[in-house]
Amino acid sequence: MREKVTILAIESSCDDTSAAVLQEGRVLSNCTANQEMHRQYGGVVPEVASRAHQVNIIPVVEQALRQAGVSKEALSAVAFTRGPGLMGSLLVGTSFAKAVALSLEIPLIEVNHMQAHVLAHFIEEPKPTFPFLCLTVSGGHTQIVEVRSTSEMEVLGQTLDDAAGEAFDKAGKLLGLGYPAGPLIDRWAQQGRPRFAFPEAHVPGLNFSFSGLKTAFLYFLREQTAADPHFIEKNLADLCASVQSAIVSVLLKTLQRAARQTGISEVALAGGVSANAELRRRFEELGQREGWNTYVPAFEYCTDNAAMVGMAAYFKYLRGEFCGQEVAPYTRGFQP
Ligand code: KG4
Ligand code: ZN
Repeated sequence: MREKVTILAIESSCDDTSAAVLQEGRVLSNCTANQEMHRQYGGVVPEVASRAHQVNIIPVVEQALRQAGVSKEALSAVAFTRGPGLMGSLLVGTSFAKAVALSLEIPLIEVNHMQAHVLAHFIEEPKPTFPFLCLTVSGGHTQIVEVRSTSEMEVLGQTLDDAAGEAFDKAGKLLGLGYPAGPLIDRWAQQGRPRFAFPEAHVPGLNFSFSGLKTAFLYFLREQTAADPHFIEKNLADLCASVQSAIVSVLLKTLQRAARQTGISEVALAGGVSANAELRRRFEELGQREGWNTYVPAFEYCTDNAAMVGMAAYFKYLRGEFCGQEVAPYTRGFQP
């Protein structure tokens, strides 16, 4: 009988150091060290992030192995996020994974971070059936992907400037909220009404643009606070509800167009912004109206995590897709 396929996966593309152990595609552990120190800078500082990965990676990997009850010797392969992401951050995970593969003499599997977000849908039930559409929305990415199989994916549209999470974070900064502002806007918006409207960007195809919204919001706040210096504090909940509604509307309108154009009715959300309560609610409502089957992974598999990297790596393992020690990270792109 063959041994169970046991994979150690590492994710270090941005500011989270994460390690997971999967056996036969089942998650045994998924451990993440968040880097809280970026809050004080109002965003991720690449240099600080890579140093923190260097500090965190061994403890996180040891914790993942311990929680899974798996010894290093039992590993069949080691996987890592090769890109896209911050170069200094990616280098830590890549070099670490290479060292593990060399010392244990096991295969090395490189994973594309965006494909991993999509394949997070295969960690738990219910799983989408092929082909499905996946809207991946996070601090670094906003894209609609047509997923034909675990290896064939096509980006149908993506942001031409800011990512959806970045739009939340930048709007929050203008409102004087902390970083990351997405969850704070989500919370404030629950007590507010979206009574301020902002012009929508007209973008070709199934692409997105959020920089116009940010500028419109900035000018609107400037104008209003010139007339009333307490405008923001008096209207914070409504401002949050308004900017959130504008972002969610653009995301869902474009997703609806993608589903109608492709005729695909299996539709999924992924990425950190899919934690947003209004996005989830309106996604489900839209899905019901349009006759979609909708999928949203558990929150721990929506934000950056190594379990999704392990899932993507498991499919590659089954296809025999390994890489050599010469492999180098890349900062952009959906495919290597
Ligand atoms: O996937 P993720 O953890 O990391 C990246 O790959 O970027 O996403 C983080 C982003 C941040 O921009 C954060 O503000 C946003 O997701 N976010 C939210 C919510 N929770 C996280 N945005 C809106 N509403 C939320 N509840
Ligand atoms: Zn991500």
